[in-house]
Amino acid sequence: MGACMAVSTFSNSSAEDIMAASPHGLKWFQMYFMPNKVFTQHLIQKVERAGYKALVVTVDLPIVGKRYSDIRNKFQLPSHVTVPNLLALKDGSEQDSAKDGRNYGMGGSPQDPAFSWKDIDWLSSITKLPIILKGILTAEDAGIALDHPGVKGILVSNHGGRQLDGVPATIEALPEIVRAVGDKLEVYLDGGVRTGTDALKALALGARAVFLGRPVIWGLTFNGEEGVRQVMKILRDELDLAMALSGCCSLGDIQPTLVVREDAYSKL
Ligand SMILES: Cc1cc2nc3c(=O)[nH]c(=O)nc-3n(C[C@H](O)[C@H](O)[C@H](O)COP(=O)(O)O)c2cc1C
Repeated sequence: MGACMAVSTFSNSSAEDIMAASPHGLKWFQMYFMPNKVFTQHLIQKVERAGYKALVVTVDLPIVGKRYSDIRNKFQLPSHVTVPNLLALKDGSEQDSAKDGRNYGMGGSPQDPAFSWKDIDWLSSITKLPIILKGILTAEDAGIALDHPGVKGILVSNHGGRQLDGVPATIEALPEIVRAVGDKLEVYLDGGVRTGTDALKALALGARAVFLGRPVIWGLTFNGEEGVRQVMKILRDELDLAMALSGCCSLGDIQPTLVVREDAYSKL
């Protein structure tokens, strides 16, 4: 579909198998800063070899949030579902990471909770891939990111609202982050993009691209690969329509003035 896919470390197919199944599309690799540096370095080398073009480092999960619906639903990965990216690297501590992977969402944390900005510098020192920080929600953090040369982009995300209740919606956080980084970093957004007009608003407020989380999974559940295709097509068609009806002939025509906040109107 010409879309970029950010493949999770915890995907149930290996990074290599995903690349083999889809050799042409742009693919980035999402990862956590895991406690074992040797393991982290192996994983990065593996995805570099496989042809991934950027590392999306998730920064909003030092520990896993309390996911009440997972608890209520007694969510557990079925036993045949594995985490091949972690299982493939054989050493005892890595097997522990794999176990964490299985528990991810049920309290196990894949990430070193002491992860900090200096670890971003360490990551940049061991890879030439651009680093995109996923989970930034404030101008302040975006400003700090500018001081870390390996960081080339920010994915404004609140983990789909799965980490902490009460954090802002990403569309609310986006403008201050775009202002803070100017044209020094590319800014993307995920979270709650459900229609083409959602995408249009994010683009208008300065996102270079939007990413989809759950809609892809819903498409997959509904009708496998074809379902995902349908979801993508609906969103593309809606964006196309919304652009046409708001007078935008190209992405470059989409301006911030398209978005007017509700509080700009009087409430009678
Ligand atoms: C089932 C599920 C698994 C997820 N796994 C990861 C993950 O492994 N790494 C990560 O950075 N984000 C993960 N996320 C968060 C998504 O990457 C993304 O930020 C979020 O789903 C976007 O919001 P949306 O679902 O409203 O589009 C996951 C989300 C869901 C729903």
